[in-house]
Amino acid sequence: MNYRHAYHAGNFADVLKHALLVRLIRSMQRKEKGFLFVDTHAGRGLYDLEQAALGDTQERTPEWPDGIGRLWGRTDMPAEVADYADLIRAADLGRGNLTREPRFYPGSPRIAKALARPQDRLELWEKHPEECGALREEFHGERRVSVHCADGYGALRACLPPAERRALVLIDPPFESASEWDHIASSMDEGMRRMAGATYAVWYPISDRVPAGAYLDSLRLAGKPSFVADLTVSHAGPGISGCGVLVVNPPWKADGEARVIVDYLAAALDRGQQAQGSVRWIVPK
Ligand SMILES: C[S@@+](CC[C@H](N)C(=O)[O-])C[C@H]1O[C@@H](n2cnc3c(N)ncnc32)[C@H](O)[C@@H]1O
Repeated sequence: MNYRHAYHAGNFADVLKHALLVRLIRSMQRKEKGFLFVDTHAGRGLYDLEQAALGDTQERTPEWPDGIGRLWGRTDMPAEVADYADLIRAADLGRGNLTREPRFYPGSPRIAKALARPQDRLELWEKHPEECGALREEFHGERRVSVHCADGYGALRACLPPAERRALVLIDPPFESASEWDHIASSMDEGMRRMAGATYAVWYPISDRVPAGAYLDSLRLAGKPSFVADLTVSHAGPGISGCGVLVVNPPWKADGEARVIVDYLAAALDRGQQAQGSVRWIVPK
């Protein structure tokens, strides 16, 4: 487990994932009844972007300037993106950053907690001991948040179905190994068996090395309505060229909101290589 999200925090992939996550949480909150948010790969909860340049053994080029950095000064955001960006700004300011650049970037657990109502609940899973230690500290003493320093692929068995009977699950693995899609598939199977009506969001990279299309086709989604929202920002170079989020059992209107998000981000985050966003249903409504 060499992956450290700190190097990637606030990059284009986080921006897409977190902007969609904010919409999904807001949609869950259209109903008064509380829900459970499960984050199978939670990370440390909050990232200091100044640390992003410090690698284990050598300096790294931070990725946030091509992600959240591109949105920071913009005033033309549609409401679906502005809602996310405002939340990131508030978190950054709340940690005391008064400079003109972003410094503190909240991960998915902090984003979910910032939006959670008293009746909502968070179950956060993180396997890396150091990351999980930081996550524990980040949420120390906070009500209705449980942190598990364990394999997140066991989370769905442990947490579903919840007493609330409503759940939003984020599966956001590092994709360090070729077997990641197999783990996702068996975890989704388990989740579907336990709670076919939950909303699942699965982040995945787009790269030549790991062709997502074949894997998406192989996921048994039990005929549940599902779409993918993806963003390709670069057609050349090493690493990933884009990423997507699979949403199973999306809330009402989530596809339209996702389309607004990917269209805006494709234009705002373009690296001069004709970035593209798309939303397509893989199991129709
Ligand atoms: C992409 S990052 C998560 C980012 C986070 N969800 C966010 O949006 O802010 C993936 C995380 O998964 C952790 N991880 C790797 N394998 C895991 C496993 N089997 N179970 C739980 N966490 C794992 C890594 O340490 C890393 O912190």
